[in-house]
Amino acid sequence: MLTTAAGPGAADLGDPHLYQSADRYRMWEELRGENRAIWTPPGTSPGGFWSVFSHQACSELLAPSSPFTSEYGMMIGFDRGRPDKAGGTMLVASEGERHNQLRRRIAPFLSRTSATSLSAFMGLEVRDILERLRDGESAPPGAGTPDGSSATGPDIASQVGSRLPAAVVCELLGIPASDRELVVDLTNHAFGGEEPAFADMDPSEAHTEILSYFMDAITRRRAEPGEDLVTALLADGYLDDGEILINCDNVLIGGNETTRHAVTGCFHALAQNPDILPALRADPALIPAAVEEILRWTSPAMHVLRVSTRPTVIAGQDVDEGVPVVAWLPAANRDPTVFPNPDELRLDRHPNRHLAFGNGLHHCLGAALARAELAVLLEALAETLDGVDLAEAPQWMSVNQVQGYRSLPVTLHWR
Ligand code: HEM
Repeated sequence: MLTTAAGPGAADLGDPHLYQSADRYRMWEELRGENRAIWTPPGTSPGGFWSVFSHQACSELLAPSSPFTSEYGMMIGFDRGRPDKAGGTMLVASEGERHNQLRRRIAPFLSRTSATSLSAFMGLEVRDILERLRDGESAPPGAGTPDGSSATGPDIASQVGSRLPAAVVCELLGIPASDRELVVDLTNHAFGGEEPAFADMDPSEAHTEILSYFMDAITRRRAEPGEDLVTALLADGYLDDGEILINCDNVLIGGNETTRHAVTGCFHALAQNPDILPALRADPALIPAAVEEILRWTSPAMHVLRVSTRPTVIAGQDVDEGVPVVAWLPAANRDPTVFPNPDELRLDRHPNRHLAFGNGLHHCLGAALARAELAVLLEALAETLDGVDLAEAPQWMSVNQVQGYRSLPVTLHWR
């Protein structure tokens, strides 16, 4: 447990190893108290940072009117002396008019309409993935269980989780199917933190490779326009090539690295709640409620960081100007004052004001797509599966950005 003689918060909450075990929920519960802020001294973030855990404080931190910005970066590691280079250029790290302009240009590709028109594509991908699972096909190279551990059943994290979101995001960005595994492998490395299986390439190297891939894609699209986001941003002329690059990176990482864990978490949720599949089969109108509960329960984005723009108070704590504060979204999504019996996955939870997609002006632009992916998947699972059992306990990634499944070996009971 985190509490030490020095009291709660003495540990460095940016330490990725803290998140490798499901005990993290107990840790967050203890830290949340009755809406507290906890200070992490300099360590993973050079100047230290405050953390908030309650639904109220996390909502306030991210609210449009709050005196906080993401322009210096929105992840632990924030360094006052060396602000994030993406600040003011990448959608998620921009504010004000610049953020509006970027959002207006990227939104049409990730909107509800786009999600609806991509649903047929998602359906085909899901069928293909499930057929391969049924045929017992092994995981593709590069997308496999990071530590190569053997599983007694298919490993959903590598065989489903990494595939569906990658297919969708590559379709949006005009990445050909033949390059998908390469791009997924690179994002695995870029986001793999200290995961041992990704040790053959460090995150910054993988990031450079992604950027170089997109530089080539921009050159290709300029010569041969398509119907993708890269083509649209080039035609629009508002962004230069470097800015297009960095925003494609935002969509690629935003679309892959969170959704894959929600997709994997679907199977985990079904294994722990055997009543859900029959309920969805009997009444498909329950699928949207199931999607929201799975988002709340899996909460794949683990933290977002903001920096105060003036002295303020959050969760009862005075915060000076220029100080980073982290919102722990999974902790907020299990806040019992907002979600009674928060560990239970309930199809009748209403309202369900979860913060899985954040809150305020940076609320996830891919939310409609992610919801559509989960809905299409649940519909197909209700049709094809009688049930899911865990073959082994889930293994969690050692990272602080996402609540990530390293592996989820299951036994599937086909209908
Ligand atoms: C922003 C979570 C899926 C693209 C965000 C934010 C969160 C989040 C918490 C807010 C970050 C902040 O406030 O600093 C998730 C989760 C997903 C998901 C949990 C899946 C379950 C997607 C998908 C895409 C996407 C599928 C695109 C294909 C983006 C973009 C932003 C964003 C572009 C920046 C929005 C802005 O700054 O205005 N996401 N996301 N996300 N997400 Fe997602």
